[in-house]
Amino acid sequence: MCGIVGFTGNKQAADVLLDGLSKLEYRGYDSAGMAVLDENGTTSVVKAAGKLDHLKQKTDNGRLLPGTCGIGHTRWATHGAPNEKNAHPHLSGALDDDPSEYRASDVIGVHNGIIENQEELREKLLRHGYQFYSDTDTEVAIKLVDYYLKKYRIGPIDAINRMMVRVRGSYALALMFREHPGEIYAARKDSPMIIGISEGESYLASDVPAILQYTRNVYYIENYQAARILPGKVQFFDLNGDEISLEQVTITWDAKAAEKGGWEHFMMKEIHEQPQALRDTLHHYLMDGQLDFSQAGLTDEILQGADSVCIAACGSAWHVGMTAQYVIEDLAQVPVRVELASEFRYRKLLLSPKTLVVVISQSGETADSLEALRIAKERGLKTLSVVNVQGSSIAREADHVLYTLAGPEIAVATTKAFSAQLMVMYALAVQMAYVRGRIDREQYEGYMKELSAIPDKVASCLETKAHIQRIAARFSGARDAFFIGRGSDYAISLEGSLKLKEISYVHSEAYAAGELKHGTISLVEEKTLIIGLLTQRNVMNKTLSNMAECKARGAFLLGITQGENSEAQSQTDDLISLPVSDEHFSGLLSVIPLQLLGYYSSVSRGLDVDKPRNLAKSVTVE
Ligand code: G6P
Repeated sequence: MCGIVGFTGNKQAADVLLDGLSKLEYRGYDSAGMAVLDENGTTSVVKAAGKLDHLKQKTDNGRLLPGTCGIGHTRWATHGAPNEKNAHPHLSGALDDDPSEYRASDVIGVHNGIIENQEELREKLLRHGYQFYSDTDTEVAIKLVDYYLKKYRIGPIDAINRMMVRVRGSYALALMFREHPGEIYAARKDSPMIIGISEGESYLASDVPAILQYTRNVYYIENYQAARILPGKVQFFDLNGDEISLEQVTITWDAKAAEKGGWEHFMMKEIHEQPQALRDTLHHYLMDGQLDFSQAGLTDEILQGADSVCIAACGSAWHVGMTAQYVIEDLAQVPVRVELASEFRYRKLLLSPKTLVVVISQSGETADSLEALRIAKERGLKTLSVVNVQGSSIAREADHVLYTLAGPEIAVATTKAFSAQLMVMYALAVQMAYVRGRIDREQYEGYMKELSAIPDKVASCLETKAHIQRIAARFSGARDAFFIGRGSDYAISLEGSLKLKEISYVHSEAYAAGELKHGTISLVEEKTLIIGLLTQRNVMNKTLSNMAECKARGAFLLGITQGENSEAQSQTDDLISLPVSDEHFSGLLSVIPLQLLGYYSSVSRGLDVDKPRNLAKSVTVE
């Protein structure tokens, strides 16, 4: 959700900003802009509607913005249409075609988040003679800082602090002040922001990939804290304006992992990184062939003491929860409920005090998931997060965190992070089952062997590529698709359906196979694509019967199964056979052809696979 970047040092800022913004485009991409402040306090601002390329063209790849201190932004519209006027940076002064107007602005800034009381603040500022050129809440926040700066004749940090006390909502703000050339000021509440430092240079960004190639030494600024960023140096302040010290964290990700490295799309690269992501994630928790979560402080006592599990997450991470519930309930025999984080936060859930609340999130910054976590903590419940981004808010705030080791994921449609999350949840299910005495040592070792074999089997699943590509080409004009399954196959259907619709814009739905006939089957007509997941033996024939009901109405049936399966072969129009695995863990295999189907369907329609319309990878607003 919106990406911000800042740089001050001895390089040309515009180069760093454009590079950083290109790494953050997955956060939002309806417009972009940059401001560079030179040593004389002269600011140049350029904004462009549309993708980042437009900004690159408009600034001659940054050459039109000379200077070594600047801020940049890629936007995902919340307030105001995605046009140039509403694009960031925003100014305390007027926006005019004449760039000399920018020089009259004392405060210039970029923002990620939503200011909820912007109407009221806009009224107040109008009464004090401010005029607004945009519809954005950001312009209000920046003019408010300017107002305090002048009213109380105070410095940037004090003005920012007054603004923080006055605004409601969420923000990561990066500001430059005309009277403070070479410096960037930052403030944060509930929207992510990191500050990176290297020799003589400082960086600011919404997310790690934007600055990974320059530095791995970062600070995570907390809510209601502000920062003054100078070349190679940063100072932090609390809401009283007192200087505080924050701990520096070293990021372990490899900078190359955030590059496309010869692949046409990040999504395809990330699909292929799954075997490694799964191996790295599982091995991280293995000690002498046994699972060990003690590094996360997740002891056997905690796993034994929980009388239920409640999983809260959004999007694909919610599908991980949906899939994991079948496995945890079956193996560990603990009741599990899975909630959409956006519902969790407004429902009065009746949870026992011994519930273990698990929040799953790739980014660790999804606003609804973060709030669900906070509510669970307020209620005194034990919380565990499963997170990919080191040091993110959800990772820091949960009582315990199990990291997925998927590395940076750039494509908006998640693949490797989804798989790594599922691996962690499967491992958690096995460990819970064992420490609660639901499975014996031999069974435990059997499941561990199965889990360890998954990465290689996932690599074999990737060999279905050519087959899937043919199916995608055949259905490139399809209007609808339906994914059906029972049990954990249903949960994986949800993910397959999301993958297809989010990047190819084909209308698709996932249904529990037995439910299709209660309404949705009326949408099935000649040549409608029905994808049936058939990895759960005990319900396979039931799902096949439901597929046959669709066939009778003219549908084309694609089955996905494990190993040789003559029944499935004879009752479908096309069948994809995956390696055989323990059925508890089959979701990690069956999701692969579904990811590929989404990918090839998007490619065959000539769409932007990595950056589908209207979406943002990290959703930091409600
Ligand atoms: C967005 C992404 C999805 C993701 C969801 C939750 O909608 O496009 O791929 O599953 O957010 O994100 P999280 O970072 O919490 O896993």
